[in-house]
Amino acid sequence: MTNLNKEQDRGQWGSKLGFILAAAGSAVGLGNLWKFPYVAGKNGGGAFVLVYIIILFLVGFTLMLAEITLGRHTQVSAIGAYRKIRKKWAWVGALGVLAGFLILSFYSVVGGWVLSYLFKALTGALHVTDAEVLGNMFGGLISSTGTPIIFHAIFMVLNLIIVFGGISGGIEKASKIMMPALFVMIILLALRSVTLPGASEGLKFLFVPDFSVITPTVILDALGQVFFSLSLGMGCMITYGSYLSKDTDIIQSAIAIPVLDTAVALLAGIATLPAVFAFGFEPAAGPGLMFVTLPAVFSQMPLGGLFAVIFFLLVLFAALTSSISLLEVCVAYVVDEWKWKRAKATITMTIIIFLVGIPASLSFGVWEHIKIIGERGFFDTYDFIASNVLLPLGGLLLCIFVGWIWGTDRAVKEATNDGQREFSLASVWVFLIKYLGPLAIGAVFIRSIMAAF
Ligand code: PFF
Repeated sequence: MTNLNKEQDRGQWGSKLGFILAAAGSAVGLGNLWKFPYVAGKNGGGAFVLVYIIILFLVGFTLMLAEITLGRHTQVSAIGAYRKIRKKWAWVGALGVLAGFLILSFYSVVGGWVLSYLFKALTGALHVTDAEVLGNMFGGLISSTGTPIIFHAIFMVLNLIIVFGGISGGIEKASKIMMPALFVMIILLALRSVTLPGASEGLKFLFVPDFSVITPTVILDALGQVFFSLSLGMGCMITYGSYLSKDTDIIQSAIAIPVLDTAVALLAGIATLPAVFAFGFEPAAGPGLMFVTLPAVFSQMPLGGLFAVIFFLLVLFAALTSSISLLEVCVAYVVDEWKWKRAKATITMTIIIFLVGIPASLSFGVWEHIKIIGERGFFDTYDFIASNVLLPLGGLLLCIFVGWIWGTDRAVKEATNDGQREFSLASVWVFLIKYLGPLAIGAVFIRSIMAAF
């Protein structure tokens, strides 16, 4: 994010591509590469993917356009955007900050695992095909006490350096190479994975829906995953949109970002799940799925050791371009609302998020027995509250805000650059944001929350 908080000198994206890259950088991250395959695996595969895509069409595109439009119209970040239009709604922005804070505290633990795997790849320790050895390696890492916390700390420090040092301009430039490289890499992995003996079972699992497994939990998980993966429901895209100039085609961007994000998630699924079946792993294995499966795929590729290093480096990069947007949301809040100095805000936030993340890390080891909501330990509870409660709630309130308070006439006017741009689906979008969006999110939300407790 360039110049994200310099109020006097609010930067604008150099080009539409710059904006799409940065917004896609926030969207594409661990949510696609690590979370999508394992949540799909846990929720029965094809059924989950189908529900995910339906929600993407009904809610994902709709809210992406709403957030970007609101941001560009107000030219301020989330809380300010709500406040500018209706003072009493500023708290909705604050709710988003809370979501970002919670997400980062467990996201960073996973970022730490990625760092640790990058080191393992560098030393060649990952060059194994044996499912059990790989499983034990991952289990050994996450269940120990010190090591994952140290890597979690390093990951947070990397975030601190980027957000604090203002070198995000460099990150944007690096994105132009790293993001396409990541894309190519996952395509290669997906190709290797689907050509493994026994892989077709995995493709079937991923793409042939078994309707009987669709439960309220599957739907809520898919809804939460759409929000999480697209960075929606917490005002992140409002902030990004606020840096857009008045002549950008935001409708096109609001289509391009979800398309790109979903392409990466599906490719990650295709790279992971067929290999899960080919190597005899368990599709519902949970958060370790990427970490145990992909090394097995690499070991079946020529130059696999090198690929593993490049891959985990790219995953780390994708994770960082997302996590800095999360940290930035928290820092911007403290700077704008509590008038803290940026340096103090960044350091304090980093430390608090690190501390809050520690129980999430320990919940795979010494604190495994502590359950907070239902059967969920700290890690899953943070994820549940943020992804399945706060983000959908933020999305629901955004629909009501744009549809009924700000008004769809004004929103469409902004989205089409005062009518200069064609928006043939405007009436569909208005219907989705005013009626179907809030009803669908509200219904899934209430039904599933009741089922979750
Ligand atoms: N979308 C990111 C991912 O898929 O990894 C995670 C994320 C980033 C969620 C920023 C929310 C956010 F505001």
